[in-house]
Amino acid sequence: MSDADAVTTIEIRSNQNRYDAVVGSHLLDRVGQLIAGRVQGSCSAVISDTNVAPHFANRVMESLEAGDFQPTLITVPAGEKSKSLERAGEICERMLAAALDRQSFVVGLGGGMIGDLSGFVAAIFQRGIPHVQIPTTLLAMVDSSIGGKTGVNTKTGKNLLGAFHHPALVIDDVDLLKTLSGRDFNQGFAEIIKHAIIADAKMFAELQSTTGRPRRGEHVDLSKIEPLVCRNIEIKSSIVAKDERDRTGDRALVNFGHTVGHAIERAGDYEQLRHGEAISLGIVAACNISAKKAGLPKDQQKAIVDLLQSFELPTRLPSDFPRAEILEAIPFDKKFQGGKIRFVVTSAIGSATLSTDLTLEDIRKAIDQL
Ligand SMILES: NC(=O)c1ccc[n+]([C@@H]2O[C@H](COP(=O)([O-])OP(=O)(O)OC[C@H]3O[C@@H](n4cnc5c(N)ncnc54)[C@H](O)[C@@H]3O)[C@@H](O)[C@H]2O)c1
Ligand SMILES: [Zn+2]
Repeated sequence: MSDADAVTTIEIRSNQNRYDAVVGSHLLDRVGQLIAGRVQGSCSAVISDTNVAPHFANRVMESLEAGDFQPTLITVPAGEKSKSLERAGEICERMLAAALDRQSFVVGLGGGMIGDLSGFVAAIFQRGIPHVQIPTTLLAMVDSSIGGKTGVNTKTGKNLLGAFHHPALVIDDVDLLKTLSGRDFNQGFAEIIKHAIIADAKMFAELQSTTGRPRRGEHVDLSKIEPLVCRNIEIKSSIVAKDERDRTGDRALVNFGHTVGHAIERAGDYEQLRHGEAISLGIVAACNISAKKAGLPKDQQKAIVDLLQSFELPTRLPSDFPRAEILEAIPFDKKFQGGKIRFVVTSAIGSATLSTDLTLEDIRKAIDQL
């Protein structure tokens, strides 16, 4: 192992247990070795999608085989539509057919879609088996692989069925980001900018002043990405640690931009925009509301919009977008509890609070401005 292969291990504590996120490069061929000792059992299912598997599945399979973990590869079509109960059921059937049992474990090899789907399968298969996450998108590394929320979408809305199921291990190999399209690389910055807005003004300033910003997967300076991934894992995990089950409102802060963002995803039938792109628009809407309801200064609001744009993220809805359907998608969002609208606002970059002082009309106006 050379210096370039040095790894950073971030310990993540949850109520019941703890797990590590291991961040570095050239980790894919060491998956079997990294898993050994952290996960019991000798059979595994590697769940991936049709874009990711051709790039990386062989190396993961070989590494697991070398570690005597007897892997079965299960590949689903790429895209958010695979995050469904039907697909989760099919995967479970295939795992049963391959004689996986309660001593087995699941490896999720993919972006946030695969992380959520494979985590959900791990949560329900034989009432719960360990889940190892190998995120392959920036978005999944900095956000979705951390915190134990797994689930699938329904016709009614995003992530409405799911389970809390923390991973046993997260392996973040930043080399994997090289094959991401520019679009998919950039959309990860929506969650990074979200983290900066809600918790880290310094990171916000650093993102603003980054010159030679990595905009395309092939131009990524991985030496800059690694510390950024680590910092974002720390932010997400520390927020989650305060309120793992999303009960007190602390964890809800990571949903900044997501009430409108999720509705936009659904209105676009999960096809028109990527998650990060919809969240970029949701952040703009949340800033409009924050300016009115929480006193977010206009110059900060503009700085946020400028930063999103500098990562080529959308800040206005595409002209052909079915706008009318966005508001319709909102009442079904799980953030509306007992008729009250819980909405995350920011009064200054680096902090966020949960407001309950909001009407659907406020949200409608913010959507109209997009
Ligand atoms: N559980 C959570 O806490 C949480 C948090 C944030 C987001 N999410 C979920 O994450 C999902 C979005 O994640 P995402 O943006 O990673 O989407 P994704 O998994 O759909 O990946 C985006 C695209 O990139 C492709 N891809 C992935 N890795 C690649 C690679 N290395 N090289 C080439 N192509 C690659 C995928 O096949 C897909 O086409 C949504 O379902 C969202 O709801 C969950
Ligand atoms: Zn998100």
